[in-house]
Amino acid sequence: MNITEAPVKVTHNEEIKAAIPTLAGAIAATLADAGADHFSEDDNQFLKFHGCYQQDDRDRRKTGKQYIMMVRSRIPGGVMTARQWRVFDLLAATYGNNTLRLTTRQTIQFHGVLKSGLRAVIRGINESLLSTLAACGDVNRNVLAPPTPAYTRAREQVYADCRKVALELAPKTPAYHAIWIDGVQLDPEKPEHKDFADPLYGKTWLPRKFKVAFVIPPVNDLDVFTNDLGFIAIVENDRLAGYNLAVGGGLGRSHGNEQTYPRLADVLGFIPPDRMVDVAKAVLAIHRDFGDRTDRKHARLKYVVAERGVDWTRAELEKRAGFKLEPARPFQFTSTGDLYGWRQAVEGSWFLTLFVEAGRVKDTEGRRLKTALRLVAEKFPEIEFRLSANQNVILANIAEADRDAINELLTEHGVKTGRRQTTVLHAAAMACPALPTCGLALAESERMLPGLLDRLEALCAEVGLAGEEIIIRSTGCPNGCARPYTAEIGFVGKAPGRYQIWLGGNATGTRLNRVWKETVKETDIESELRPVLTRYLNERFNYERFGDWCERVLFQEPMTGFSI
Ligand code: HEM
Ligand code: SF4
Repeated sequence: MNITEAPVKVTHNEEIKAAIPTLAGAIAATLADAGADHFSEDDNQFLKFHGCYQQDDRDRRKTGKQYIMMVRSRIPGGVMTARQWRVFDLLAATYGNNTLRLTTRQTIQFHGVLKSGLRAVIRGINESLLSTLAACGDVNRNVLAPPTPAYTRAREQVYADCRKVALELAPKTPAYHAIWIDGVQLDPEKPEHKDFADPLYGKTWLPRKFKVAFVIPPVNDLDVFTNDLGFIAIVENDRLAGYNLAVGGGLGRSHGNEQTYPRLADVLGFIPPDRMVDVAKAVLAIHRDFGDRTDRKHARLKYVVAERGVDWTRAELEKRAGFKLEPARPFQFTSTGDLYGWRQAVEGSWFLTLFVEAGRVKDTEGRRLKTALRLVAEKFPEIEFRLSANQNVILANIAEADRDAINELLTEHGVKTGRRQTTVLHAAAMACPALPTCGLALAESERMLPGLLDRLEALCAEVGLAGEEIIIRSTGCPNGCARPYTAEIGFVGKAPGRYQIWLGGNATGTRLNRVWKETVKETDIESELRPVLTRYLNERFNYERFGDWCERVLFQEPMTGFSI
C-alpha cells in the first residue's frame, strides 16, 4: 500500500493529518492571540503530537469552563539529570499546579498549565535538553527502559539501545521547532509544508499510538507485554546477547464494545542487538500500513496481530526487515514491582527508590516530597533521577559518602527512605489521574484509590490477610492508563462512584485479568470482595497469590459467566 494515499472512509483525524502533514495546525497563530484562551478541536488533535492535551478543570465546570493544559515530556528510559529535575520542579511551580505527575511510562506530566504559559513550559523543557514532541499522538511514544541499575551490567547497553530507538523513531516535522522555539506559524498551503512527508511515518503518521519498551528479565517492572513492541533483553554471561521480540500488546478498550480488548504481546523470536533499529522500524511500518484508519478504537497494532495472526506478523516483519528471526531464547520474569529503599548497584554506587503515591510529587503536611527532591537535586548535582513505570522515583548514582546526608535531608522533610515506606497495598498500587483533569474520566481514580486502599487494608486485616501483597490498580475509564488489566485487582471507572472489577492478573505481568463484576458502587467494594478474600485465605495453596487463586479457582466455576 502506498502510505501517502489515504484509504476510503477514514476518520476525521486522518483527514486533518493528511491536510496538514507537518502537524502545525494553527497552533502558533492561536498561541500568539492573547485574546484566545483555548485551541480549536482540530488543533487539540495536533497538540497531542506536541505533547499536550487541552483539558478543563472538571471540578469547576459549574462556575464556568476553565481551559487548562496537560503537558507531557518525553524522557527515554525515564532518566533525568539532577539539573533537569530542577528545571521541571521550577516549571511546575511557575506555570503548572506545583505538582509533578510521574507517569506509568516513565515521563512527567504538568497539569493545570494555562494557554499563556504553554510555550514557556515547552521551551523550558527543550532548553533542559528534553522534549515533549511525540509524548502523545499517533506516533512512537516515550520508550521505556529498566530504571534500576542494580541487576546487571547489561543495563547500560539496554538504556543506550532505548535512546537509539527513541531517536530513530522520532518525528522529523519542522513544526515543533517552529511553534515552540521560534514562535512561527507555518503556512500549510506552502508546497514544502503541504507536501511534507516524514521519512518514516509518511504524510498521515500512524493510525494510533505506538509504544516500545525494553526490559531485562527477571524483572518486568514496566509490563513489557502491554506494549506494541517489547525488547526482552537476553543476558548471557553478564553480556547482552540480543533481544526476544514481543509484538502486539496494548490495553485500551471501550465499555460495551466487544471489538475492543486488552491484549498481551506475542513473543515472535530473537534478534542480535545490531538488528534492533531495523526491527523497530519494520514493526512500526506494519502498524502504519495495516492499522485500521477507519476506526480509532480499532486502530492499534494489537488488532492487526490478533486478526492476521502471529505467523503472518512474523513473516511480514522478516520481509520488511530483510532477515529471519532466530527462535526465541528462554527467559523468566519473577516480579513487576519496585524495590523500595536503599540498594547497591553492581558497580558499587547506591540508589534509593522512593514511594510516590499515585505518582504525584507534591508537598503535603508532614511529607514535603517536592521540596525535598528539589533540595537533593540542588545539593547533589551528580546524582540521576530515574522514573519507574510504577510511578515512583529512583535516585541513582549516589556515592557512598553522600548517603547519610541524603537520608537526613529526606527524613527532615518527612520522606521515609527505608524498605517499608508505606503499607503493602499502597506500595504495590497505581492509579491514573482521571478527575479533575482528564476529559475521558467516567469516575475518580487518583483521588479515590488511596482511601479505598486504606479500606481494603482494613478488610484484609479483618479476614486474616493483613500485610499480604495484592497488586491493585485503578483507572477512571477503560482506556487503561495505569494498566488495570494486568493487576490482581483492577478497578475500571464506569460512572461516577461506580467501577467494573477485574480479577486475576499475576505478579509477573504475563497474564491479563478478567471481568468479575460489571458494575459495583465504590461503597460496596468491601462487601463484594469480603467473601472472595475469605475463600482465598481458606482455599489457596501455600504462597499462592490472590490473582493466581482467582485464575485457578474463582474463574473455573460455572456460575460466573465471565467475559473479557
Ligand atoms: C486507549 C486510549 C487512551 C487514551 C485516549 C488515553 C488518554 C489519556 C489522557 C487524556 C491522559 C491524561 C490524563 C491527565 O493527566 O489528566 C492520559 C494519561 C496517561 N496515559 Fe493514557 N490514554 C489511553 C490509554 C493508555 C494506555 C493503555 C496507557 C499505558 C498502559 C496509557 C498511558 C498513559 C500514561 C502513562 C498517562 C499518564 C498518567 C498515568 O501515569 O497514569 N494510556 N491518557
Ligand atoms: S485511564 Fe481514562 S480516566 Fe484515566 S487518565 Fe487514562 S484516559 Fe483518563
